[in-house]
Amino acid sequence: MKIGLGCDHGGYNLKLEIKKYLESKGIECVDYGTNNSEESVDYPIYGQKVAEAVIAKEVDYGIVCCGTGIGISLAANKVPGIRCAVVSDTFSAKMSKAHNNANMLSLGERVLGRGLALEIVEAWINTEFEGDRHQRRVNLLSEIEKQYNK
Ligand code: RB5
Repeated sequence: MKIGLGCDHGGYNLKLEIKKYLESKGIECVDYGTNNSEESVDYPIYGQKVAEAVIAKEVDYGIVCCGTGIGISLAANKVPGIRCAVVSDTFSAKMSKAHNNANMLSLGERVLGRGLALEIVEAWINTEFEGDRHQRRVNLLSEIEKQYNK
């Protein structure tokens, strides 16, 4: 599994923790920036970069971080085909994969402690999409996109 990572300044330290954690599990990471926490940057740039890498299949999944996890997820979700879930608990992390087939996860550094954030990442990467009736619903999400991308 290869995971694309991205963040703004507000999520930089959490992204580094996640990268360290994933690499310790033997999971390859591709870091799409930002590359320091000192300079204030705009989260849409990094949400879009990781989302495009997922759609281009440069990576299997994306994990993004900002202060709340919200802004960068909104950016990622503008890219057709992306289902980016903002998550703050392990149950939602599992469900976002099992039921929603989320291909990106978004976390808030100013919301979560390191321990919970890494448990969320672990729960998410270890959960499989259940398909079946959930596939029909995910297909309907794609149908909505098509209605607006004419
Ligand atoms: C940056 O201050 C902050 O607005 C950003 O990291 C994020 O929380 C936006 O949703």
